[in-house]
Amino acid sequence: MDEKKVMLSGIQPSGDLHLGNYLGAIKNWAARAEEFDCYYFMADMHTITVRQTPADLRRRTLEQLAQYIACGLDPEKNTLFIQSHVPQHAELGWVLNCYTMFGELSRMTQFKDKSAKHKDNINGGLFTYPALMAADILLYQPDFVPVGEDQKQHVELTRNIVQRFNGIYDDVFKMPEPYIPKAGARVMGLTAPDSKMSKSIPEGCVFLMEKPEDIQRKFKRAITDSDTEHPVRYDPANKPGVANLMNIYSAITGKSFQEIETEFAGQGYGKFKPAVGEAVIETLRPIREEASRILADKAYLESVYKAGAEKASYVANKTLRKVYKKVGFVPR
Ligand code: TRP
Repeated sequence: MDEKKVMLSGIQPSGDLHLGNYLGAIKNWAARAEEFDCYYFMADMHTITVRQTPADLRRRTLEQLAQYIACGLDPEKNTLFIQSHVPQHAELGWVLNCYTMFGELSRMTQFKDKSAKHKDNINGGLFTYPALMAADILLYQPDFVPVGEDQKQHVELTRNIVQRFNGIYDDVFKMPEPYIPKAGARVMGLTAPDSKMSKSIPEGCVFLMEKPEDIQRKFKRAITDSDTEHPVRYDPANKPGVANLMNIYSAITGKSFQEIETEFAGQGYGKFKPAVGEAVIETLRPIREEASRILADKAYLESVYKAGAEKASYVANKTLRKVYKKVGFVPR
């Protein structure tokens, strides 16, 4: 019997992965599979709450899957699937819509933000997004849901739905906990080290699939400071740009800040920045090559997401049947 605790998370295929995603999160996921039974899916049904170009959505969904596998997420040890391939998400999503209150949905900050940003397309799906997300989670009865700060409110709402539903029908759903991963490296933007590395500021963001010369150019242009006395010194309050580069270098090489200071003692940023760039390039090179190889092997990629959907669907269906019975639907 499998005694492992279950973990589940969804990822929107809305953009390319970057160094911050990798060092901050994905790098640690490979090890996680030993401890937990992990489900990861591409949340394509959530992505269409904002208008997409169909060909781009299709391409990005597959690219992202290939990149995750290349980062070390082993499809033999993790269940990797595409949300729209498992119809139980839409089915339970509808049921949970009927157990989620208008007032609750109105209070979601993501809805407020996104409806302010897309005034011409404030659709019903954008509003009921959290009920679908609750369904994504509850179908698999996970113990933990790893999410970033911005998604915690949705997990809290899921917990309210569990309490409401279980209160009416006895214990149908397991109560999930948000899981805040043990600190990975917090990577800041190379041009604005006061905010997280983000694809919305592409000059300060290093993408996993980026060409080495482009990566090196971004590191050479990284913001540092005008300290010429003790340039490579870890002082996040006064030298945030340098601290960020040291952080990246440390995450990649395993060296301590002290060791890095010693390594670059007496040298300026002209030596330090390209050295960090070079270390990043060598770390990303095998990932980029592997992702390209996987993406070109359509048959392999298809076998991964088909097997993933089959396994996910089997688990999801058990929960859905239970729910349908509880709410009073006639069994098929
Ligand atoms: N809403 C999440 C995001 O935008 C993606 C997501 C969809 C998700 N369903 C989920 C995350 C279920 C965790 C669990 O990042």
